[in-house]
This record gives sequence, C-alpha cells and structure tokens, in this order.
Amino acid sequence: MFHLPDSCLVALCGLSILAFTLVLYIRYQNAIALINGFPGIRTVFDPFSAPGVLTSRIPGLSIPHMYKWEQKYKLYQETGWDIYSGITIWPKLSVSFSVADASAIKEIVQNKATFPKPAFALLALYGPNVVTASNNEEAKRHKKVAAPAFSERNNKLVWRETSRIIEEIFAHWGSKDIVPVDHIVDITLPLALHVISAAGFGRPIPWRGDVGLGAQDGAIPVGHPMSYQEAIETVCKGIFTKLLVPSWAMGLTKRWKKVAMAFDELGKYMSEMIESRRDEGDRIKTDEDGELYKSDLFSNLLSASDAELVSEKGALSERELMGNIFVFLLAGHETTAHSLALAMGLLACYPEEQQKLRDHIKSVLPDGRLPEYEDIPLLTRSLAVFYEATRLFPVPSIAKTAVCDTTLTINASIPPGADIVDGKFDQQKVVFVPNGAFVMLDVFGLHYNPRHWKDPNHFNPERFMSADWNRDAFMTFSAGSRACLGRRFSEIEAVTALTMITMRYKIELNGDLFHIIHGETPRATRERLLKVTQGITLAPVRLPLLFRKRD
Ligand code: HEM
Repeated sequence: MFHLPDSCLVALCGLSILAFTLVLYIRYQNAIALINGFPGIRTVFDPFSAPGVLTSRIPGLSIPHMYKWEQKYKLYQETGWDIYSGITIWPKLSVSFSVADASAIKEIVQNKATFPKPAFALLALYGPNVVTASNNEEAKRHKKVAAPAFSERNNKLVWRETSRIIEEIFAHWGSKDIVPVDHIVDITLPLALHVISAAGFGRPIPWRGDVGLGAQDGAIPVGHPMSYQEAIETVCKGIFTKLLVPSWAMGLTKRWKKVAMAFDELGKYMSEMIESRRDEGDRIKTDEDGELYKSDLFSNLLSASDAELVSEKGALSERELMGNIFVFLLAGHETTAHSLALAMGLLACYPEEQQKLRDHIKSVLPDGRLPEYEDIPLLTRSLAVFYEATRLFPVPSIAKTAVCDTTLTINASIPPGADIVDGKFDQQKVVFVPNGAFVMLDVFGLHYNPRHWKDPNHFNPERFMSADWNRDAFMTFSAGSRACLGRRFSEIEAVTALTMITMRYKIELNGDLFHIIHGETPRATRERLLKVTQGITLAPVRLPLLFRKRD
C-alpha cells in the first residue's frame, strides 16, 4: 500500500489549516467591510453552535455564557452609541447589531416587513408554531387560531385558577408560622404550570402532590416513567442540549438520557391530551359560573387542526398542533414562574418596598378579604413590583432579521456616571444595517439604559406607578405585531399571586440557607442573593426564602 511520508502529512495538515484560516480571515474582512467597520464584538464561533458552547470560556472564540447579562449597558458605553455590531464567522458568516435605543427598537418592531422574526429552531422541536413562525403570513395564521382564546373570559379563569392554587398552597402550609423554602422556583414553576395547564388546556392538577417536594415527586400515571411536571421541567432545562447534541449521542450521559426521555414523555403526554379532548367530542363545557367554555386555547388549537384534517384553508397541521401546545405550555409557565420568583426575592431584599406593597394592598382591600377578579386592575403596586422585577431581570435579546439593506437612527450612549442633561447627549448617528444582518433587541441593554430609566440599577417599583413611564423602553413582553400573546395572562397570574402571598405572609430571607449580613444594603443583599443563569429566560440559580405568617 502507498504511504505518504510523515513530513508530507504534516505539510498537508499545515496547508489545510492555513487555507482554513485564510477562508475565515477573508470572511471576517468581508463582514467588516459590509458594516463599514462599525465597532462591536468579534468571535469565531456562533455562541449557539456546538463549538461556540464548548469554547465559551475562551476569549475571542465565542461569547461567554452570561456575558451580555454581566455587561448590560456597558458595551454601549464602550462604543459610544446605543448600538454595537457583532460578527461570527463559523459555521457561517453572521453579522448582527444589538440595539438598546428605545426609539430605534420601536421603529424595528413597527416595521415588520423590513425586520421580521428569524426562523427559530429552538422552540420548534415538536413542530412549527406561533412563536417560531418567521414569515408574517404564517404568524398571522397561527395567531388567528390562538389569539381569540386570550379573552376576558380566559383572564378570569387565570385569576380563578391562580387563587385556587395559592389557597391550596396556604392550606398545605397550614398553621405554621414560618415556612422556609429552599428554592422559591420549586413553588413558582409548578404554580405557573398548574395555571397554564388549567386555564389554557382545561387540565387542572391538584397541588398537594407537588408542592415543595420537587418535580420528581409529582404523580406518575401508569405507562409513564416520568410525571408530566417533571417531563416539562426537564425539557425546559434541557432544550439547548436537545438542540445541540445529535440524537445518537443523547444516551451518552445520564443527564442527556434523562433529557431525551423527557422529550419523548412530554410528546406522549401532549398526544394523550389531544386524544382525550378529541374523545370528549363536541360536548359543551361550562365553567364554574355556568358560562360556556368552548373557546379555551386548547379547544381553539384542536378545532383548527381538525379543520385541517377536512382540508379547510388556514388551519393547523397535526405537527403544528403539537408545536403550539408545546410552546404555549413552555411560554405560558417558565417566564412567569421565574419573574414571579425574582419579584419575591426582590421583596425579601427590600423590606421597605414590601411594606409599601402591603400598605397599598390594604388600601384596596381594607377588609382583608382575598382579591376578586374585579380588584385586579386596582392592585397597581403589585403590577408595578412585577414590572420592575421584569425590568431588572428581563428576557434576553429578541431577534429580528433585516431582509434588505436599511439604516437605523441611533442615540449616543450615556457614559458611566453621567447625568442626562438636556442637549448634552442628544447626538444621533445613522447606522447602515446590511441585508441579512440579525438585529437583536437587547432587552438587558434597554432596561439598564440611563437615558430611559433613572438610576436603572435601583429596584424602584414607584417608576411604574405614574401614568407617564416610557412604554417604548419596556420590552419585557416585546412589542408590535409579534408582542407576547400571553401578557395579560401572566400579569393577572402574577398580580393575584403576589397580592395573596403578601397579604398573608411576610417574605423574608431564609437565614438557614443564605448568610444574612446585618446592616447590609438591600442592593448588596440583592447582588448576593439573586444570582441568575440564562436559559430561554433568566432563571434564579438558587433562591431560598422564608414566609412568615402575618397576624
Ligand atoms: C412574565 C411572563 C412572560 C414574558 C416575560 C413573556 C415574554 C415574551 C416575549 C419577549 C415574547 C417575544 C419573543 C420573540 O419575539 O422572540 C413573547 C412572545 C410570546 N409569548 Fe410571552 N411572555 C410571558 C408570558 C407568556 C404567557 C403566560 C403566554 C401564554 C399563555 C405567552 C405566550 C407567548 C406567545 C404565544 C408569544 C409569541 C407571539 C408571536 O410571536 O407573535 N407568554 N413573550
């Protein structure tokens, strides 16, 4: 057999590496030319690619996992503008712009023809759906099916289910004066999952089996190795793994195996939900008020898919039905659960703010009764606390793509420590955005932008108590035609839960699991307590709290 001498092999390898490096370099130079050298972050790998994840700790190769969260507004201060560019060259050349300027963001979300949502593989694992639809027509078709379910009647159902579950939690806590909780997300995740299951899918789950015990203790039906709750929580945590690890490799580690099993299990649970609702046929349901109950989210999705079966236009395929059930279960609980957990963590760090909240609730409900649905719009401080928690701990970037060469008018950034004095930082720049560039609405940057939020690091629910706060600078729920469909759903859930809990319990730091430093400022306590990690949303790493019964 013919063998190349070792020296030739070495030379060949060297040449290949050189050629590869040259290709990357040319790609890089092309990208720089494309954006006229606008400053920003340059890395080799796309941070969402497998090599990007593996090299995230090596500067220059990829962006570190929590980098954007740690930087918040700082990167804008470095470029001098409320925008910076990003270039990655592997697996393909990708140019992006991150934007923290409220008026530019408003322009982007309003101009959906120029800046549509890009295709989104992450949330399409069970099938295409309303969140992943990149084409505006597709999105319209999905929305036409789902949006009518988010009605006043459904809002009332959200309030009722949240109240029911919180009362079950109170009953479970019983007469205990002090209830220590290891990690508040162990309560808020099942709570939010219960609410979306009941209010969105007509699948109420009793609370007691799950509370405080961890997902693995939820009821496991015959034929399933995993409970519904554990399946969905494992899927939420393992979604990036599922996307990045090839299917053949999913059996290689215990954790990956569990993620693979959870994906199968959740698929089975969703199929069973579909089957059992189809078996129920057209029987008309009524809710507790005797009102007709035919338009919940699940019924809408199902009848659209049944219509597709008899080939009606504009309906949903079976895969799209699964995709939408999944995305509503996921979007409908993870975000709310984490935001609610962080809101309670903030109230524990800032007792004065908690007292203001309690006083406000007392002024709305002076007789101490629990809130009725009609009280929800009056509980403005509960909503303000929730908004402020999501301003400080928002969803990460919201992605759009430019589908033609275009420009954005951008404000100068506010330097560290500067006060905004009229006229001082009012320079603007027109930035060229080439066709194909990703445009990231950087919610961290926007929510910590001192142009839009006075003392942005400060936890100050008061800013949402006046009527004139800047709506364009608040992107918790995105905006424009692709804004969050479940905004009212989550607001009602959060206001109901925060109000009920604050009425009955004082939320405190859990001194057994968190070192309390007497005399420490709330801000310093917050820095130590509220550590987050980034998955689909920001999630508290471990948030131990204590609930002390009020007299
Ligand atoms: C605190 C709670 C929530 C937050 C912070 C939140 C945030 C968001 C954001 C930022 C988007 C835009 C995503 C993008 O364009 O990439 C979005 C979209 C969406 N959200 Fe929410 N969400 C929350 C709760 C909910 C709930 C409870 C539901 C459903 C029950 C829901 C359903 C949706 C849907 C269907 C979309 C897609 C809309 C579209 O693309 O046209 N969300 N949400």
